[in-house]
Amino acid sequence: MNIERKFPCVRDMQKAARTNIPKFSYEYLSGGIGRNQSVKNNRKALDNIIITPQYLVDNADDPDCRCELLGQKFDRPFGVAPIGLSGLIWPGGSQALAHAARNNNIPFCLSGFATVSMEEIAAIAGEHAWYQHYMCSDDEINKRFFKRALDCGYQNLIITIDIPTATRRDHDIRNGLSVPPRFNFRTAYQILQRPRWALETLTTGIPRFENFIDLLPDKPSSQKTGFYLQELIEGHVNLDRLKMVRDHWPHNLIIKGILSEQDAQKCVEIGVEAIVVSNHGGRQLDAADSAIHRISQIRQVTGNNLTIIADGGVLTGLDIIRYMTCGADFVLAGRAFMYGVAAMGQRGAEHVMKVLFEEFECTMAQIGCNNIRGLSAFRADNKTLCQPAH
Ligand SMILES: Cc1cc2nc3c(=O)[nH]c(=O)nc-3n(C[C@H](O)[C@H](O)[C@H](O)COP(=O)(O)O)c2cc1C
Repeated sequence: MNIERKFPCVRDMQKAARTNIPKFSYEYLSGGIGRNQSVKNNRKALDNIIITPQYLVDNADDPDCRCELLGQKFDRPFGVAPIGLSGLIWPGGSQALAHAARNNNIPFCLSGFATVSMEEIAAIAGEHAWYQHYMCSDDEINKRFFKRALDCGYQNLIITIDIPTATRRDHDIRNGLSVPPRFNFRTAYQILQRPRWALETLTTGIPRFENFIDLLPDKPSSQKTGFYLQELIEGHVNLDRLKMVRDHWPHNLIIKGILSEQDAQKCVEIGVEAIVVSNHGGRQLDAADSAIHRISQIRQVTGNNLTIIADGGVLTGLDIIRYMTCGADFVLAGRAFMYGVAAMGQRGAEHVMKVLFEEFECTMAQIGCNNIRGLSAFRADNKTLCQPAH
């Protein structure tokens, strides 16, 4: 199969993912919350960013797309966002993306709720692996996680703050989504229709929350696992709790799920290194504004003291450039990478990165920008932006 011709863009991989994985997995991955308004708005907000190219320029034929972020050098200013329940989407999906991220010199963020351990991912991706954590209400447990991450050599800890309460997604409730998967007539039927996924799952093993295994009772049912985890995870994370993290995490601390200037200001106060401006891919609040609309105002508050990473809706290299013209220092993508893996496994992980790399570079050359630091000058609406920190 010539994957270049079959999958020239992420949308083609998304179509293949849909026919390759069970319906409950696909809806978990692609869906948002409520009426999917926030997912649609993320797309619309990106499409509305217009860029004015410049053609009479020197030195833009071979743009420099590399970047430096939080003390590390990367080949492109984007990385893989944390995705929970990854093994349910594609068995070994996180491992495939971690390998590809290291090969392509971009970061891979491991969700604490992925179905692979932080130790395994550190062994695969080394310094390209970042660890994302949801705060537990018991600090002894949080500290155990931080120590594990430090022992594995993680340099970047992401604390996600935008899930203050149990999330209700209609499609997941309808599908009875759980880990390990709950087998009923409906899920069994969906699995039988996807024999490749079923076979891979049998080979790889039934997905489990590997990072939490030692905290769960022996052989818990899927219902019990959900209950224990819900009990374990904290609701709203306040400033004192983040100060505690700051005191116990000596390396880069990144707070994910910021949309308001107020929250950004608090992050500045406790001295975090970076924030991720994000509406969690439109999965938490159907009325949430898109990250790309918020970056400029947030930058007014943070100035250049904080690195701003942003995400939501990215499907192309152009989308990443759109974020950067709006002032982001770095961009994450979640679904785009998972679509590649769900379409083709490990080959898909490599291929989706190749596509985004090439699209990014072509777009840089097309608009006449020879360096990512210059991108904020290309926004067509002429809104004044604070200069991003580099
Ligand atoms: C299936 C799925 C699972 C996710 N799980 C997590 C998670 O465990 N932790 C987290 O911080 N964000 C999680 N996110 C949010 C992503 O990290 C990221 O913010 C979002 O996917 C960006 O939007 P995009 O998918 O449109 O690129 C998840 C997103 C999806 C689609």
